[in-house]
Amino acid sequence: MSTSNTEPASSQGASPKPEAATAAAPATASVPDAALAPAPAPVPAKSAAERSYSPGLAGVIAAETAIGYVDGANGRLLYRGYPIGQLVEKGTYGQVAELLWTGEWRKSARLVPAEVPEPVLCVLNELPDHTHPMDALRTAVSVWGAWRRPHWPPTVDQARELTAFAPSALAAFHRIRNGLEPVKPNPKLTLAGGFLQQLTGKDPDPAATRALDAYFVVGAEHGLNASTFTCRVIISTRSDLASAVCGAIGALKGPLHGGAPAEVVSQLHEIGSPERAEKWVREAIARGDRIMGFGHRVYRAYDPRAAALRKVAEGMADMAAWLDTAVKVEDVVLRIFGELKPDRVIKTNVEYYAAAVLQGVGLPPDLFPPTFALARMAGWSAHAIEQASADKLIRPDARYVGPPEMDVPNFRS
Ligand code: CMC
Repeated sequence: MSTSNTEPASSQGASPKPEAATAAAPATASVPDAALAPAPAPVPAKSAAERSYSPGLAGVIAAETAIGYVDGANGRLLYRGYPIGQLVEKGTYGQVAELLWTGEWRKSARLVPAEVPEPVLCVLNELPDHTHPMDALRTAVSVWGAWRRPHWPPTVDQARELTAFAPSALAAFHRIRNGLEPVKPNPKLTLAGGFLQQLTGKDPDPAATRALDAYFVVGAEHGLNASTFTCRVIISTRSDLASAVCGAIGALKGPLHGGAPAEVVSQLHEIGSPERAEKWVREAIARGDRIMGFGHRVYRAYDPRAAALRKVAEGMADMAAWLDTAVKVEDVVLRIFGELKPDRVIKTNVEYYAAAVLQGVGLPPDLFPPTFALARMAGWSAHAIEQASADKLIRPDARYVGPPEMDVPNFRS
């Protein structure tokens, strides 16, 4: 693997300046005519008070992308034009990641698990027992960045390297917190199989590997969601891929974004049986609580990722009883939302059935959010590469709503 844009700490100099910044200014023999012409009258910029404000940036176009298309009205999700359902059926995570990074659909594309570098293992060993795995993954990526120094602009090689390292790091943390030695990755396995093998120390079950690979495909990309936007904002300052992905992991950690599937499990546990769902859901909504695994900023139709993962979960024999309860509870929740919030279409989202698949492959609930992050590495890094090629600092404006200008009270008398 080429490491052209990633160097060990000792050998790396300052980040190269992009071509436009380093090119010498053309020599001018005389002042061009255009410079002598009267300047066009400036269009007065609207003040922030005159411009419209969209809370949560809802509906604001903040980037142009050729990577993923989220068609919320029709419940469609395309990766570089290909529908998510077909990618799950016909592709692997290695092929999909390569598609997101390069735009090419290659049969031979593979991603294999990489070793965890010593400095990362040292830091993981020092983390307190109560560390949340999402914090451990963010820390591991941060130490990887300090060690590898992937400088701006991000490249496909950097993306491959980081995506292949992250599952090994998360598995190593899980072993360490359970008092076990980390397991070396087997390069003959896929990323999903290698993650399971490094978690358990055993050869991964082929059906579980396929199910987790399908989950990785489904979680790989989703337009300008909060964590991808965070990643693009950081890269837009010409910062590096590791910093951008650390920020993205921080954004994904919140329960409104990637923290939801673990809460789906505790929610179904609390509900207990479909007969108790009606009362539980009505009381939760009356209290103003969020029902996890439902609702989305963009989708007003059934989330196609939820449909794809439900299919995967239906193929997992061990999940049959859990799934039966989940499907019945889902029907109740959708009926109640239709009745109580008729003006806002609230449907099942990806996290509801992600919970089934991740439980089915044997992961404990606190590994659900960082496993989502492992899948999203492909999308984050693809967006980082795309944002760097646009090379435009993201810097929106805020409308000031504080007090008017006033004098500082004088305490000195
Ligand atoms: N449970 C109860 N009420 C809800 C829910 C929900 N799951 N989702 C939306 N609403 C209500 C909300 O209370 C509000 O009602 P009102 O107008 O009466 O105050 C209305 O719908 C609009 O909610 P919002 O928070 O303004 O809408 P949003 O577009 O900002 O929210 C969301 C999107 C995902 C944050 C929200 O639907 C939610 O909190 N869902 C539960 C958490 C969850 O499942 N998150 C995973 C999202 S999918 C993963 C990903 O792609 O990131």
